[in-house]
Amino acid sequence: MSFLENISTELQNLIYIFASILFITGIKMLGKEDTAVKGNFLSALAMFIAVIVTFLGPEITVNPYIILAGIVVGALIGSLIALKVKMTSIPEMVALFNGFGGLATFFIAWSEFNSNADNTFQYVLIMITTYIGGVTFSGSIVAYGKLSEKLRIQKGSFITKLFTTVFYASLIYLLYAIFLTKTLSLPFDFYILLLALTLIGGIGFVLPIGGGDMPVVISLLNSFSGIAAAFAGLLLTNNVLIVAGSLVGASGLILTVIMAKAMNRSIGNILFVGYALSSTKSSSEETGEVKPINVSDAYLILENASSVLIIPGYGMAVAQAQHVVRELGELLEANGTEVKYGIHPVAGRMPGHMNVLLAEANVPYDVLVEPDDVNPMMDTVDVAVVIGANDVVNPSATEEPGSPIYGMPIIEVHNARTVFVLKRSMSSGFAGVQNPLFFKENTRMLFGDAKDSIGGLVSEFKE
Ligand code: TAP
Repeated sequence: MSFLENISTELQNLIYIFASILFITGIKMLGKEDTAVKGNFLSALAMFIAVIVTFLGPEITVNPYIILAGIVVGALIGSLIALKVKMTSIPEMVALFNGFGGLATFFIAWSEFNSNADNTFQYVLIMITTYIGGVTFSGSIVAYGKLSEKLRIQKGSFITKLFTTVFYASLIYLLYAIFLTKTLSLPFDFYILLLALTLIGGIGFVLPIGGGDMPVVISLLNSFSGIAAAFAGLLLTNNVLIVAGSLVGASGLILTVIMAKAMNRSIGNILFVGYALSSTKSSSEETGEVKPINVSDAYLILENASSVLIIPGYGMAVAQAQHVVRELGELLEANGTEVKYGIHPVAGRMPGHMNVLLAEANVPYDVLVEPDDVNPMMDTVDVAVVIGANDVVNPSATEEPGSPIYGMPIIEVHNARTVFVLKRSMSSGFAGVQNPLFFKENTRMLFGDAKDSIGGLVSEFKE
């Protein structure tokens, strides 16, 4: 067993520092599309090195083969899930992964309570780690259920109120338990109650939050899983766990704030008011006449356009139309048209969703533009082609103060000379509100699956 001989604490710490540098470099590289894949690989490699070095460390007394088996089984299950998951279901997968991270720290804290808690600091750390880990686990499972639409519980129902009450009770109990540890070491029964309240409280934390806000909540839970891991690192005095946990905690929190801002919601509003309460859905009342267009007529207009802005949304992801969209963009350019892609930060269902899809189809980064860049010059755009986007181009956000999405920054395609909206029906988008864009004078609706409609335009150009 020579290769499994334990290494010294000094060497272990040195390798931890190396792994931490890899983590930080990897995360930095995730910020740009062309280095993201490499960055992801570096961070995964750092985690692998950290795990191996941990189980070769002097404090590990269990059979290393058991840990090795755990790594192999975990890696197999994780890889299988990641390979099978559909692009549109990534947020659900992230929710589950966060949940398991939380569960792992919950178990670490529990085990430390049973074996190593001998002073107030340790006890307090155990309470907090148990709490955040447990809430992250059960909250993430509820978030997964809501996002995948497997869990449909009415807001404001008795069951939601019951769980929410337990959530607040669990918070009060946590504070009480922390206070108690200052005067006496916490009896086992008290701790077991905390374990139970924590798990039920996590359900009560996420249950009242509307499905529309779930991606933001998932990002917050991701941050929680990092914070729980950092606390677990403090408990175990494991430096790399503290570094990795803090990185996830901080970056998750920043992402949560960015997403909330892009939806013009405050975190407090998302967590404690909820989407449905603030939305008096203007549902689907029609507000004018819709002007449909067919592929041939749309082609004639596009063929004569000198500037085209393509705005992809969730529907492009559903239709998996990104490759035909790139082809259409190339054909337009070959025809002398200037083509740009307007990317809204919350288009789709996860941060960077559109960037990922377009990068997969090899659309160059330099033709992607953000709302702030393109809105001021929208009146110079001949045709804005909206592909399966809805909320992110809804003018109610700027024109209708009573609208649930009022204040959300949008791509103002209604100011373009002509707008094509490609979707299958008149149904609303994620926020469940009607879109007056569809009834504007300069809008033409190209009904059908986005891939079929764009494919039709591509064929027209090729003929
Ligand atoms: P949505 O408002 O959800 O609209 C998507 C549209 O795509 C639908 O109206 C749908 O209409 C159409 N569609 C679906 N399948 C299609 C297909 N196969 N072919 C053509 N069209 C199809 O999308 P969006 O504009 O991208 O906005 C995103 C929403 O998600 C926003 O409300 C945002 O706040 C929310 N959200 C996003 C995030 C992130 S991080 N991206 C986070 C939280 C919340 P039909 O059914 O009529 O086809």
